[in-house]
Amino acid sequence: MGQAGWHRVWPLFLQSLYTDMNMGLVLVDKELRILGISEMACRLFGVERDEVNWRLMDEAFPNLPDEFRFLHKTVQEGLTFRNYATSWTIHGRTYDLLVDSYLLTNAWGEVEGAYMTLKDVTNLRSLEYQVQRNDRLAMIGQIAAGTAHEIRNPLTSIKGFLQMLNRTLEEKGMFREKGYTDVMLAELERVNHLVSEFLLLSKHKEVQYRPLQVVDVLREILPIIETQAHLNNVEVLFQIKPNLPLVRADSELLKQVFLNIAKNGIEAMEEGGKLTISQRLNEEEQTLLVVVRDTGPGIPAYVMDRIFDPFFTTKEHGTGLGLSVCQKILHDMGGNLTFSTKGYGTTFYIHLPLA
Ligand SMILES: Nc1ncnc2c1ncn2[C@@H]1O[C@H](COP(=O)(O)OP(=O)(O)O)[C@@H](O)[C@H]1O
Ligand SMILES: [Mg+2]
Repeated sequence: MGQAGWHRVWPLFLQSLYTDMNMGLVLVDKELRILGISEMACRLFGVERDEVNWRLMDEAFPNLPDEFRFLHKTVQEGLTFRNYATSWTIHGRTYDLLVDSYLLTNAWGEVEGAYMTLKDVTNLRSLEYQVQRNDRLAMIGQIAAGTAHEIRNPLTSIKGFLQMLNRTLEEKGMFREKGYTDVMLAELERVNHLVSEFLLLSKHKEVQYRPLQVVDVLREILPIIETQAHLNNVEVLFQIKPNLPLVRADSELLKQVFLNIAKNGIEAMEEGGKLTISQRLNEEEQTLLVVVRDTGPGIPAYVMDRIFDPFFTTKEHGTGLGLSVCQKILHDMGGNLTFSTKGYGTTFYIHLPLA
């Protein structure tokens, strides 16, 4: 085939580079006139190819931020970039990008042009983040499995004796001392609670995934939620949707998830408010969504990225394990946990796989 083949393939290859390649590509001459721009680069920059091709960079992208003038720096200062990590937001979506730029010089070493490539690594970045988080969770789970029972057993006997002491002190009218034991018992409860959350992070042997009706599980824990809501001046609205398909889950673990998320919502509404629990079928995803919405202050942007991190808490007496535990439970059963938040409330979406 030789030369002839080269002539046939080469134009197709160039064409494909611009239309198919899963990478943004921008080629300019030494005046920074755009000689070629790939489909993906157009998508990233929100332009049409015909609008910008053959135009000068400054005309085509009049508002390009300084840190995105890679080709200017390459052509004018001879700077090239390799795997330069940056991010770019368009139409409310943020892309993590890796940028490379290359200088094109002729046989005499004079600059003729330059090009840059943009690799979209958004998914990789969040995947990397998730892997890190899962590693950490797994480690905590291991430690928990090894130590939680060792902690809990002595706690049980301490608690038993303290309760006895508490009663005796009351009978003897030693109310100040009894007060101390009340505090000790309350603190013990906190430790117990922490250990329980730890245990949820470790592997469960008894997990039983069964087809179940989500509304039944919700009904069982509703009294607990309502009691706590009442103490916090929060109104609970439980919207039942009949005839929803069954999900495949472990009912005990599912209760933990609903309780944790409802509790967070109630705790967020310090001034009182409304907690709404509803269900929705997502046919496309083949999941059942349990939606828990509060009318609290929302989650500030600087906190959002961290709420699933183990031990991250903004509460004085928080453990920061609630959402980590929920996410682990849900991931283990093939579900997921997402949320959206505005200034006037937060909504958690619990995605459960259909049976
Ligand atoms: N509904 C909510 N509204 C506002 N912030 C929330 C909500 N749910 C969770 N958060 C934030 O996420 C953090 C982590 O929650 P979680 O893992 O349950 O731990 P904890 O409740 O012990 O703090 C909370 O401290 C809080 O800052
Ligand atoms: Mg919590």
